[in-house]
Amino acid sequence: MPIFDYSNEESIGSVYSVDTGTVLVSVSNLDALRKLQVNHLIVLRSSRAGQHLIGLINKIMRKALVGVSENEDGEVQDDRVMVENIVRISLIGTLLDAVGTDQNVFRRTLETVPEIDAPCFVLSGEKLTGFMRAISTQIIEGQEPLSLGKYTLDEEANAWIDGNRFFQRHAVVVGSTGSGKSWTVARILEQVAGLPNASALLFDIHGEYAPLIGDGISHLRVAGPGDLDGARTLDDGVIFLPYWLLTYEEMLAMLLDRSDQNAPNQAMIFNREVLNSKRTYLESAGKDEILANFTIDSPVPYALGDVVDRLQELDVEMVAGAKTEKQGPFHGKLTRFVQRLQSKICDRRLGFLFSAGDDAMRYEWLEELATVLLGSTTVRKKGGVKIIDFSEVPSDILPLIIGLVARLVFSVQQWTEKEQRHPVALLCDEAHLYIPEMHETGVLEAGLRSFERIAKEGRKYGVGLTVISQRPAEVNRTVLSQCNNFVAMRLTNAEDQAVIRRLLPDTLGGFTDLLPILDIGEALVVGDAAMLPSRIRIDEPNNRPSSATVAFWDRWAAEAIENGIPAAVEALRKQRTRD
Ligand SMILES: Nc1ncnc2c1ncn2[C@@H]1O[C@H](COP(=O)(O)OP(=O)(O)OP(=O)(O)O)[C@@H](O)[C@H]1O
Ligand SMILES: [Mg+2]
Repeated sequence: MPIFDYSNEESIGSVYSVDTGTVLVSVSNLDALRKLQVNHLIVLRSSRAGQHLIGLINKIMRKALVGVSENEDGEVQDDRVMVENIVRISLIGTLLDAVGTDQNVFRRTLETVPEIDAPCFVLSGEKLTGFMRAISTQIIEGQEPLSLGKYTLDEEANAWIDGNRFFQRHAVVVGSTGSGKSWTVARILEQVAGLPNASALLFDIHGEYAPLIGDGISHLRVAGPGDLDGARTLDDGVIFLPYWLLTYEEMLAMLLDRSDQNAPNQAMIFNREVLNSKRTYLESAGKDEILANFTIDSPVPYALGDVVDRLQELDVEMVAGAKTEKQGPFHGKLTRFVQRLQSKICDRRLGFLFSAGDDAMRYEWLEELATVLLGSTTVRKKGGVKIIDFSEVPSDILPLIIGLVARLVFSVQQWTEKEQRHPVALLCDEAHLYIPEMHETGVLEAGLRSFERIAKEGRKYGVGLTVISQRPAEVNRTVLSQCNNFVAMRLTNAEDQAVIRRLLPDTLGGFTDLLPILDIGEALVVGDAAMLPSRIRIDEPNNRPSSATVAFWDRWAAEAIENGIPAAVEALRKQRTRD
């Protein structure tokens, strides 16, 4: 049965003007006008039978027109005030009564436009429920459903989104702090984890996703200063990212002071010595095939200690002169570089890079790391949703380290045979910290490049990106512009709103006016994965991230508390909270 069996009497008005995606409707019925609300749905009769155009109310206007007429003598006689009620509607799609054997099929295309004077109807009550139901069944047909929550328009209707499109075409989750992003992510991840072959990585900057547990979920942690005794390894979910995984550029971003006049020499010598050291390693390991093709950036273990020794040698080298010995070509030019390198090597906070232990210096180790990062639930025989806790990584090199992980995932995926490629999603919480808009040289830039590539080419290789941020204005535009799905939660800052507005289709401009007035846990969902641009109340996840908003007043009003300060000071010294 067609849902939209409107009779002409139900019409609230008729089409007055038509633009590509916008229609103005003149409403004659005042009672009907009062009931209309911005962002509610409207049905317009299409010029083709069996088709109905669906629109969102964009603006409701009341215009006073002053009518002037002249009498027989040519004098202005009468200023009549006429009132006209105009509703502006953005067209968002078409409902077809039947396509083949399927009934009530919604398409997001506009094959026809309404004719002038075509009648216009309000979509509410049973018809709305029927429409929502038709959309829901259409999305979940032949698919494991991904459910976000309930539509604000119709609390009965479950808001499903298309899980394929959501991850294929990259997504953005934005909202001011405390608006419910992390909970939304938890809600999505729980469902991902329920799939038998899931593969996703969540970058958890504050360790707030620790409470997310379940069969499909495993927790990883980048090693902190307390893990350097080698007691914990990949099997325990502790990740080391040894320096030999870093590219030449990434190493330099961390080590080189570009303002140093000797910087070009330092970079050149470092390059040469690392290459030599990698060659030595490959030779002794008998990797002939790789020897023939490796570059400075190839992830091959090498002895950084030897490189340091060699640099120190060159730094004090004396060579034979005409009469006496003279200073070598790099004498004194490497001192600062070596000092910087040594201080990094000794920094326990960077232990996950420079003190990764013998285990992580094995050639085969990278394979094991890649399996942990990319492996799905059945490959790993552990949760395919992997939450990586970066809370112990020093913030100054966080962008570089997360970029490194993203790059590893992307490159391994790229080199995987097409038939064997298993899609993997990267969810980036607090993305403004490591996918920033500002292009700076150094640590930020090196990491950013990985994400730009994934945003642009990830779709082809089955790497999906979900950018989560409270400051979209500070997130890289190139990356944002590649995202086709938007989950926008309450957003109060005007600059951030403007960014989101620019990313959405023009006709939905008015929809973004809702951003500042959304409730906590409410989102505007627009894009490829959602059939309709809709306002959705996100369901609470089963396990909640530990990101609860602190109740200042209540806590101050409560009585005795335990003094946590001494333990905190000690943890600050040890740089770790766990024992
Ligand atoms: N769907 C929801 N339903 C009900 N309450 C919610 C919902 N989502 C979030 N909240 C409430 O809002 C609080 C903050 O949510 P959340 O941690 O997800 O915010 P956030 O947007 O990630 O903030 P930040 O940017 O600071 O990380 C939660 O502790 C919870 O009390
Ligand atoms: Mg959060």
